[in-house]
Amino acid sequence: MANEAPVAWVTGGTGGIGSAICRALAKEGYQVVAGYHNPEKAKDWLASQQAEGFDNIALSGIDLTDYDDCVAGVKEIRNQFGPISVLVNCAGITRDGTMKKMTSDQWHEVIDTNLNSVFNTCRGVIEDMLEQGYGRIVNISSINGRKGQFGQANYAAAKAGMHGLTMSLAQETATKGITVNTLSPGYIATDMIMKIPEKVRETIREGIPVKRYGTPEEIARAVVFLADKESGFITGANLDINGGQFMG
Ligand code: CAA
Repeated sequence: MANEAPVAWVTGGTGGIGSAICRALAKEGYQVVAGYHNPEKAKDWLASQQAEGFDNIALSGIDLTDYDDCVAGVKEIRNQFGPISVLVNCAGITRDGTMKKMTSDQWHEVIDTNLNSVFNTCRGVIEDMLEQGYGRIVNISSINGRKGQFGQANYAAAKAGMHGLTMSLAQETATKGITVNTLSPGYIATDMIMKIPEKVRETIREGIPVKRYGTPEEIARAVVFLADKESGFITGANLDINGGQFMG
């Protein structure tokens, strides 16, 4: 049965940045639904959140690349917890490679997971948000969607595309109590950046004006801000959080 707490759905909720977002929103009193991809990892992840007292976080194993699964999953979340007020699109993967080496599979996997998923989730929640006359959508993009990145044609295209969706949906929903924004993290200390070869990673870190990677918590606090009821005049915006690495 639905409880009183507003519902926040965080895709990629069990990942590095996603975990911090789930915990920050849970601390704000949301009923958080964390999306996951790997069921075994998700089970352990939830147990550790609960061990730390986060009993308002639940799991949802929706396949974000499958439109029908997203629509059905949103319905399940609504039935279990109530309509979704906050959607954070944080699920994302990398399949880095220069164009001459990138396979068609690497291209499509990234576009499906990082961009098509955002259509699927937004389409899934938008009717309920319109009906409620309220909603907050935060799309977690990337510095590399803003500036491009050697070896990331697929990822940069998906992340740049995300902001096009943000600006369009923001216009469609501006008079309906719904805001849609993009947040573009720079290099954040998570497993994702540990996949970059160490030498390349060190060069990147040196190029960040604050001379360090960001923390997941530094992204989560901005999500809480954008998701707040009082942030209703911020829509269609992109917020860069990158230690000064790109100032667009
Ligand atoms: N700019 C210019 N030239 C570069 C370069 C760069 N940034 N990086 C590598 N090169 C050069 C190399 O020196 C090499 O030159 P030569 O052929 O003359 O020797 C050539 O390009 C080939 O490079 P590699 O040997 O590195 O090629 P590779 O196929 O083995 O690796 C790569 C390519 C996978 C893209 C690797 O360079 C890499 O992992 N780069 C990091 C990509 C990156 O930043 N990913 C971000 C992941 S984190 C994330 O995505 C989160 C987020 O939102 C920020």
